[in-house]
Amino acid sequence: MSSPASTVILGTGAYAPARVLTNAELALTIETSDEWIRTRSGIRERHIAAPGETTSDMAVHAARLAIADAKLQLADIDLLIVATITPDLPMPATACIVQHKLGLATSTACFDLNAACSGFIYALDTASAMIGSGRYRHALVIGAEKLSSIVDWKDRTTCVLFGDGAGAVVVGGSAQPNIGLLGTKLGAYGDCVDLLCIPGGGSNAPATAASLAGGDHFLKMKGKEVFKYAVRGMEEAARDILEQHAIPAHQIALVIPHQANLRIIEAIAQYLELPLERFFVNLDRYGNTSAASIPIALDEARRSGRIKSGDLTLLVAFGAGLTYGSALLRW
Ligand SMILES: CC(C)(COP(=O)(O)OP(=O)(O)OC[C@H]1O[C@@H](n2cnc3c(N)ncnc32)[C@H](O)[C@@H]1OP(=O)(O)O)[C@@H](O)C(=O)NCCC(=O)NCCS
Repeated sequence: MSSPASTVILGTGAYAPARVLTNAELALTIETSDEWIRTRSGIRERHIAAPGETTSDMAVHAARLAIADAKLQLADIDLLIVATITPDLPMPATACIVQHKLGLATSTACFDLNAACSGFIYALDTASAMIGSGRYRHALVIGAEKLSSIVDWKDRTTCVLFGDGAGAVVVGGSAQPNIGLLGTKLGAYGDCVDLLCIPGGGSNAPATAASLAGGDHFLKMKGKEVFKYAVRGMEEAARDILEQHAIPAHQIALVIPHQANLRIIEAIAQYLELPLERFFVNLDRYGNTSAASIPIALDEARRSGRIKSGDLTLLVAFGAGLTYGSALLRW
């Protein structure tokens, strides 16, 4: 196989569980209010997986839609990357479970990627490089999360912010240069691991009765500090990629940011001197779905006609790690 001139997104798909949990419902179980959650984050409701519904189940729904949208067959896929921090099992990779549930060929390369909320951009870059090598033809890149399984539903400082869902894209090669994924900028502040992490259950602190009783297997976050790094990381990632490609911000038709907090998105809009209308926002309906947030938003943006042929789109994210990343796409 020869190397393609560029790598393009051929199709998108998204899935959210049927169950919608509103802020008002949350206020019945913890000391919070719709007003507090909305004014601090912009979130109104989030989707919650049904009992027994797994990350791989949600990934499969989104993947089927993306493959159909790309007008491809299962047999066309030879690479599968699942970006997630909520794998079905600690091992093996959820990608292997998705491969089997979807019915992909056993010759499909399958692996998970953990870059938290930046995971989709990291996975898109990885898939693009592998397709660009000429050794793979079509990659399925999925961001899927069941964050409801790792939040402490008694901790009002975190549980109100997150939701479940999955988004997927199919990436392929194109003979046409200068379209599709034009470039990415990835990075991480590895000195900030403790600002957003699950302290227990890993090889550093295997689960014990005491760690379970202490809730060490739940997500812990220092919200205020994360907020500052989120703004810094997303600003850096956006600025670097635009400078790298000598593209002034006003030429970006649509920014699809990680959907964590409306105030963070507003800060990025101000930094880039772009009106908020130039940003795709759906966090009011999903909350933060980590690696799923950008592919869900991308799918909604495409299907609602917000992305036109020739448009420049900027994806930008940050997440636990603390990772950050941006991707520049021409459609
Ligand atoms: C979490 C976050 C929304 C909190 O907003 P904030 O402006 O920092 O919070 P404030 O300082 O206004 O409020 C904190 C107070 O509200 C209280 N509070 C926290 N959660 C609450 C809730 N759900 N309902 C009501 N009150 C709450 C706190 O206990 C604290 O009370 P205190 O001042 O008496 O100690 C914000 O810091 C944030 O979004 N951070 C980034 C998180 C993020 O995006 N993480 C994902 C990374 S991918």
